[in-house]
Amino acid sequence: RTATMTVDKAYQVAQTDDRLFGSFIEHLGRAVYGGIYQPGHPSADEDGFRRDVLELVRELKIPLIRYPGGNFVSNFFWEDSVGPLENRQPRLDLAWRTLEPNTFGLDEFARWTKKAGADVMMAVNLGTRGIADACNLLEYCNHPSGTKYSDLRRSHGHEEPYHFKLWCLGNEMDGPWQIGRKTMDEYGRISEETAKAMKLIDPTIELVSCGSSFRDMPTFPQWEATTLEHNYDYVDYISLHQYYGNLNQDSSDYLAQSDDMEEFIHTVVSACDFVKAKKRSKKTLHLSFDEWNVWFHSKSEEEDITQNHPWQKAPALLEDQYDFEDALMAGLMMITLLKHADRIKIACLAQLVNVIAPIMTERDGGAWRQTIFYPFYHASRYGRGMVLGTAADAPVHETSTHGEVSDLVSTAVWNQEEETLTVFAVNRNLEEDCRLELDLRSFEKCVPMEKLELAGFGLKEENTASEERVRPQSLTDIRMENGKAETVLKKASWNVLRFH
Ligand code: AHR
Repeated sequence: RTATMTVDKAYQVAQTDDRLFGSFIEHLGRAVYGGIYQPGHPSADEDGFRRDVLELVRELKIPLIRYPGGNFVSNFFWEDSVGPLENRQPRLDLAWRTLEPNTFGLDEFARWTKKAGADVMMAVNLGTRGIADACNLLEYCNHPSGTKYSDLRRSHGHEEPYHFKLWCLGNEMDGPWQIGRKTMDEYGRISEETAKAMKLIDPTIELVSCGSSFRDMPTFPQWEATTLEHNYDYVDYISLHQYYGNLNQDSSDYLAQSDDMEEFIHTVVSACDFVKAKKRSKKTLHLSFDEWNVWFHSKSEEEDITQNHPWQKAPALLEDQYDFEDALMAGLMMITLLKHADRIKIACLAQLVNVIAPIMTERDGGAWRQTIFYPFYHASRYGRGMVLGTAADAPVHETSTHGEVSDLVSTAVWNQEEETLTVFAVNRNLEEDCRLELDLRSFEKCVPMEKLELAGFGLKEENTASEERVRPQSLTDIRMENGKAETVLKKASWNVLRFH
């Protein structure tokens, strides 16, 4: 089996926005408590932040982290999470039916992200609260001084405003599970008015309107069209959320789901452009894919805890243990995001620590990398630059619900500054290797540096706290002649082909 692919530096899709490599920390399960924050742990620093976690987060070079939810934000009372610790009181978190102790709040998160080298993507509560609260929170975070909430921040020891630039207008407001769920028109109106008011306080901020919670929501894509008709002039991005899983234990069909993600993106772009045309607007809306990942392994434990054992502090929720095929799926999703860098400017791997996460922690032990860590790591390290359109011709295979799909899913990123070209490629054929012939003749000099590969593992192979079984290896098996490269993409493999 042979696939051919031409990468030409003239076919430029778009320069990647760094925020495409963002992630997400929600007050959920052990993401905060026992994840990024664990005073008394041997690796905790002077703020109680786990150093072992910070190191792994920095390894991923994450530029942006969404906070504090997620579903959590829809009943978030930010005032309870700031100020002297002795005055803070626990609250019921209705989203996950747990106890929020409020010993870590928004000021602590701002401090933690500084240490992690990331910016904050903040969210306002449009579930149980509304315009006034969103304005108060923005005033607390971004206004310099001389007002009730900016001075409250200063009284808490944070003299300088945070200047959070990016704000989500609520979360998944179409979802029946959402506290304070809205109809399309209700959300359209409240998000329009909230956005208008927030931009009066700080015109430099950018706002994300909630799109559908996932592609199969019954109101998709009417939700996008209707809500944007209300708020189009005031918002800058629309959100997309999507999780996949191998629910039917059909791995081939599971990995075909990145084709669904392609369709999802095309439809949202179309809805945005429909509203743009209808409004005769000059503004093109961009996409914020601010929740994406694999999530399905831990669903029954989650249901049991939320339904039968509520009001625990930081129980183990959504702790998917990822296997090798999940890493392939995460890689496929990452490639799909990169291919649409012209419209997708922000994306958040959901989430970052313990909760459907690439990084896990042991309460009395260390932090470790799940299988999905690596495709994200490679993309974040080598996927920044100019995304190039590629002309590929690849063999196909049959799947149970997606029909015939291509073996090869790939993209290429040219980093002009560093003079490197990186081709990301997944062979999602589980039975057969595929020879890849790459035509790189548009690049005058192009020398193979290395091939990073995740391959040869059982599809269900996992990493654990004590053993990192699924990890990439660096190979040199790229042959190059007259501007054409050749290598073998093993069956079920994630490949990063690097040239300079
Ligand atoms: O990331 C976990 C949850 O998934 C988020 O809280 C919610 O926004 C989505 O449904």
